[in-house]
Amino acid sequence: MNWEALYRNKVCAPAEAVQSIESGQRVFVSGNAAYPQALINALMERAGVVTNVEILHLLSFGEAPYADPALARHFRHNAMFIGANVRTAVQQGLADFTPIFLSEAARLFTSGQLTPDVALIQLSPPDEHGFCSYGCEVAISKAAAESARVVIAEVNRQMPRTLGDSFIHLSRLHRLVEVDRPLPQVRQGSFDEIQARIGQNVAELVPQGATLQLGIGAIPDAVLAALATHRDLGVHTEMFSDGIVDLVEQGIISGATKTLHRGKIVAGFCFGTQKLYDFIADNPIIEMHPTEYVNDPFVVAQNDAMIAINSALQVDLTGQVCADSLGTRFYSGVGGQVDFMRGASRSKGGKPIIALPATAKSGAISRIVPTLEPGAGVTTTRNDIHYVVTEYGVAYLHGKTIRERALALMKIAAPRFREELLRFAREEHYVL
Ligand code: COA
Repeated sequence: MNWEALYRNKVCAPAEAVQSIESGQRVFVSGNAAYPQALINALMERAGVVTNVEILHLLSFGEAPYADPALARHFRHNAMFIGANVRTAVQQGLADFTPIFLSEAARLFTSGQLTPDVALIQLSPPDEHGFCSYGCEVAISKAAAESARVVIAEVNRQMPRTLGDSFIHLSRLHRLVEVDRPLPQVRQGSFDEIQARIGQNVAELVPQGATLQLGIGAIPDAVLAALATHRDLGVHTEMFSDGIVDLVEQGIISGATKTLHRGKIVAGFCFGTQKLYDFIADNPIIEMHPTEYVNDPFVVAQNDAMIAINSALQVDLTGQVCADSLGTRFYSGVGGQVDFMRGASRSKGGKPIIALPATAKSGAISRIVPTLEPGAGVTTTRNDIHYVVTEYGVAYLHGKTIRERALALMKIAAPRFREELLRFAREEHYVL
């Protein structure tokens, strides 16, 4: 059978596509901008006939109706990264949270420990060989689809075809639903004066020709904006957004000196505006790869001058970093933070950086704290920490004593909190 006939045989309406999903099954859902909303909506229509279906995913945009308490008997969400649409449900115990390094998440699927029965994914239309691309979201979707018994895909005419290790053949799909829907537009680019200062301080740590990992948000955007005089930067990152496009167009990012995948932007997923989605389509400089490859610290470390820039909620005076919870309240997840911090620390000339504003809540709370809030998770350990950057400067902590760390961190805390931090450090004999 040629692939066109194969394709036609599998096309169906969303309700029919999800009809085989049964009570007690584990359903993986692709995340970020590749969230298959039509399939999710159809699955919710089955609430009357299924109970105890586990919905497993990373961050997703869109509605998460399975986290609604009214559907609790029918669906239970298991978050491997907590997004805004499921945060309340997790914090109220109505959904679960599984902490996991993104580099290791795929292994939960392939090892049998958390293998999905069904994978709901979103793909680009097939090419002339019958291969669909995972587009903006290879991440852990590829491993999930390769391990699930049943794969159901939304084939979205507007999902860009991306290159790299980013393809699945039609023969692997059990059912497919045609959609023609713009990807979510996640606008970035604005940052305030504090974030601009943080960006400037980080940019000063970035050598010419370095390879970058950046997350998404105001601080990464501020860093990118501060790199105007850099040349030949490379990108090896879990994710990226529109900011990268501007730098490629300005010749600041070329990847010309990368020691791994020279000339290529390597990533696991991306989201942003239509400008980004147009940029990644069939673009030979973009290589999308599964997260178990991109985030593998041993792979990351093969990039010389690897600069990993991640953020945090709190840093204590010994250099312990919390990025995933506000005390006992789970907020996000480790994502790729530790993967990249460790990879960058092993890279020749690499720099792992935690960049955060010195305060939260309009200056009322210091993020440099004597101790992490009770219940806060240690995302990056005090052994892994190297650079901490705020709007007040840079603290280099690696290989430094607790006394040196406490003093260095006080200097980059907001001035009004420094005395309190010093008092604590004295009481605990960190300093005399
Ligand atoms: N105490 C109390 N509240 C705090 C706080 C603190 N120390 N630090 C932050 N907050 C509040 C903020 O005020 C904000 O609240 P609001 O939404 O009501 O304004 C909220 O918590 C989020 O803080 P913010 O600094 O805006 O978060 P962010 O969107 O910049 O994300 C992380 C920061 C750390 C949560 C995010 O980077 C993350 O999840 N990191 C872990 C994963 C990771 O690093 N991945 C990297 C690879 S992509």
